[in-house]
Amino acid sequence: MTQTAVDLGTDAQAAICEALNQSVAETVVATMLAQNFHWNVKGMSFGPLHALFQEIYEDHFPAQDDLAERVKALKGHADGVLAQMIDRSKVEEYPNSATASAKDMIAALCAAQETLAATLAGAGELAAEHGDTLTEDLCIARGQVHEKFAWILRSHLE
Ligand SMILES: [Fe+2]
Repeated sequence: MTQTAVDLGTDAQAAICEALNQSVAETVVATMLAQNFHWNVKGMSFGPLHALFQEIYEDHFPAQDDLAERVKALKGHADGVLAQMIDRSKVEEYPNSATASAKDMIAALCAAQETLAATLAGAGELAAEHGDTLTEDLCIARGQVHEKFAWILRSHLE
């Protein structure tokens, strides 16, 4: 049976909020990664890559809010400290973007999308275990977006 935010016990709420905060942190880092590459990509494929990287960060920015506000709906604390988000994120920043090739950027962004898809899948499973179908639905929707971006990026490398 579906459990609403009111029905969920405090332990379930805390566990789901932790998984959501992890998702927020990784979405934030991936947003900046895509924008960094949007600014710095070079080469004959500049036009489509500049546009694709913009599509990614424009998708991710409102998703940060959707995920964080789900934490608040579950009566949790939305962790919004940038340094802590970078620290906990399994999506990593790319330190050498000044010398990265377009291919390096695509590979890094593809890995980020795959990591996010896995994180969101885990968060969705956790929500499902507790009957929190609303969080599960949000995580499934976000996971699908990340898997689609991973496919689009991966296709450039094949
Ligand atoms: Fe721009």
